[in-house]
Amino acid sequence: MMEAALPRSETAPAALDIRGLKVQFGEGPYAVKAVNDVSFTIPRGQVMGLVGESGSGKSMTGLSIMRLIQRPGEIKGGEIRLNGTNLLGLSEREMRRVRGSTVAMIFQDPMMTLNPVLRIGTQMIEAVMAHRRDTTKVEARRIARDALARVGIPSPEERLDAYPHQFSGGMRQRVTIAIAIINRPSLIIADEPTTALDVTIQAQIIHQLEKLRLEDNLSLLWITHDLSVVGSIADRILVMYAGRIVEQGTADQVLDRPMHPYTRGLISSLPSEERKGKKLRPVPGVMPAPWELPSGCAFRNRCEQASNSCAVAPADIDQGAAHSVRCFHPHRY
Ligand SMILES: Nc1ncnc2c1ncn2[C@@H]1O[C@H](COP(=O)(O)OP(=O)(O)OP(=O)(O)O)[C@@H](O)[C@H]1O
Ligand SMILES: [Mg+2]
Repeated sequence: MMEAALPRSETAPAALDIRGLKVQFGEGPYAVKAVNDVSFTIPRGQVMGLVGESGSGKSMTGLSIMRLIQRPGEIKGGEIRLNGTNLLGLSEREMRRVRGSTVAMIFQDPMMTLNPVLRIGTQMIEAVMAHRRDTTKVEARRIARDALARVGIPSPEERLDAYPHQFSGGMRQRVTIAIAIINRPSLIIADEPTTALDVTIQAQIIHQLEKLRLEDNLSLLWITHDLSVVGSIADRILVMYAGRIVEQGTADQVLDRPMHPYTRGLISSLPSEERKGKKLRPVPGVMPAPWELPSGCAFRNRCEQASNSCAVAPADIDQGAAHSVRCFHPHRY
């Protein structure tokens, strides 16, 4: 007897789809909601920029996808779908298979990834063989060499025998990118990957990742506090403040027509051609300690637009809208 065909979804699942993610440190009245009901989607092949000042919850969002939140931090709720599979439903054993193969992470400090006492080649071969059991060492070494070549490291065959300290900072970051792409992931989370590098090297690394993205149809979550970096690479941008997404839109919308007073503050604190010679205007004040956040909109005690209504939480971001903001007094154009 013929089986009836199963209904097939018309569209492939997004590379990443996060719904209502919550990450919390501690319990009770002093609990810190480091990530507070965050939702967003990254379609296959696209770059999502995640920006916000220090402590806003960017890294915790990235680490949640890898399921690498350390205690006392804990994922308290939500869904993280990677190509349709909810990672929060996987066992730790299953998660180990996903980490470093389907999704990989690059950190600001390459030494978060690299072991200082092992040759690069040894570490790369290990990364290949952890996920491809039937690969021989010779084959794994060839894959490692090709990955070094793909990220623009000269003499890759010889460089496999070098130790991490024998590379410059920029080259060391290229090695971690090579490790990230070695098992052909569909998503890479890059957490401030260029922040520690000087501007020319920064541009090279951005260019490199952009090239790999196009070649492999990679999706990227690019975390940074630097809006000028994210403008050059992201398709869409999320702005995070005190654990929440406060604005989301295309890179052009968020950078050229920011609506949230916080986003507007971030942008006017950037040096630019038009403002040459004028004073930079930093966002006034600092982000309050997590246990001192005001009720309602967390930004209201720093906001020039704030009114009484802001003591009540504004409606959440509209995920369906191209450009959406979590604010009672968004700037209109
Ligand atoms: N070990 C910890 N104990 C308690 N709270 C923590 C701990 N680690 C992080 N947090 C909380 O999580 C929040 C978000 O941290 P996260 O590292 O995600 O910020 P970030 O946006 O990546 O900042 P940065 O730009 O400095 O990297 C912090 O503001 C802090 O309140
Ligand atoms: Mg961080």
